[in-house]
Amino acid sequence: MTAADDLHETVHAQQVLERLRAAIGAAGGWLPFDEFMALALYAPGLGYYSAGARKLGAGGDFTTAPEISPLFGRCLARHCAQVLGELGGGDVLEVGAGSGRLAFDVLSALHAAGCLPARYCILEISADLRERQHALLATLPSQVAARVQWLDAPPAEPWQGALLANEVLDALPVECFEWQPDAPLARGVMLDATGELQWQTQPAPPALRAEILRLHGNLPWHAGYASELCTRVGPWIAEMTRSLASGVALFIDYGLPRHEYYHAERSTGTLRCHYRQRAHDDPFAHPGMEDITAWVDFTRVAEAADAASLDVLGFATQAALLLGLGIEEEIMSAQDETTRIRRASEARQLLMPHEMGERFKAIALGRNFSAPLAAFAHQDLRRSL
Ligand SMILES: C[S@@+](CC[C@H](N)C(=O)[O-])C[C@H]1O[C@@H](n2cnc3c(N)ncnc32)[C@H](O)[C@@H]1O
Repeated sequence: MTAADDLHETVHAQQVLERLRAAIGAAGGWLPFDEFMALALYAPGLGYYSAGARKLGAGGDFTTAPEISPLFGRCLARHCAQVLGELGGGDVLEVGAGSGRLAFDVLSALHAAGCLPARYCILEISADLRERQHALLATLPSQVAARVQWLDAPPAEPWQGALLANEVLDALPVECFEWQPDAPLARGVMLDATGELQWQTQPAPPALRAEILRLHGNLPWHAGYASELCTRVGPWIAEMTRSLASGVALFIDYGLPRHEYYHAERSTGTLRCHYRQRAHDDPFAHPGMEDITAWVDFTRVAEAADAASLDVLGFATQAALLLGLGIEEEIMSAQDETTRIRRASEARQLLMPHEMGERFKAIALGRNFSAPLAAFAHQDLRRSL
């Protein structure tokens, strides 16, 4: 970072803080955490995803699977090829395309295999990431690049094909709560005497309280157990898939089925922030300048599917997904020994349980699609949801 970048960041951080202070004031001095997170990530012109921080890759805040290796995109291309093949053609819609790396690798592989989609649509909320996607995808052969379109909303007209979203669900704003047996608490944000952001709890309002009690069931949570839940997942998935007439939506993210997510021993939740390749758990450290994420409750995703008339077609770890999609063949097909060795090392990062292999999961939701998916040939954990 140059001195000018530093100055720009300091000014920007101050503007975000002012916006948050105003919102807390307007809300009567206490803002529910999901509203804080929505502003910190998406406030127009200010939020992390709405304004221009570097975010991905070298010099950015975090590294995702497509940034680690083209193997990830090549495997997802095999999935897209299967879905498009079963449907006799269609489109790909990628939600939250980051640097455009996944789109680049998927399109390159589909082009090589002779099964390009009619359109590769990208729904991207961030203006600076859109620019990066434009620049990267313009380097594809012109007949491939011509199929890429950027959308501001999911297609209005019915469409068929494959929807992809890697590491997007974890950015949806979450409600934070603390368990107290007499009255569950909502965790939110207020200002201390010096105007700094700080955590503050309040009795959970009725809808949140009911949701916390539903999750609690008979789990042995101790007083002070803290976690989060994401009620926005349902409406978001419904919106993203509303016009999907037939096809498969694949969501990949770090997360767990509910019984593991809300295990009594996971007593401080899963909220994580990413700032310049460092992960930490203080969402008030750099609001607007860093990513704020929470693990995904995949049981909630399955419930969202049910409510949106989608079928859960498969659920597996990322490692099993990539093995089912032929990652070993992709490594072996490298043109030379040096590339093969490099690919094998990248694959370890994608597959090893303590790296991304087991923390990340994939769930496929289908509409009017019944063919068994190769992606889940290796493992299908649907019964754990
Ligand atoms: C962690 S990045 C992942 C990028 C890319 N999928 C990858 O794997 O490298 C999250 C992406 O989702 C986008 N995004 C975040 N919130 C979104 C939302 N509510 N709707 C659509 N896209 C969103 C971001 O702008 C960014 O492109």
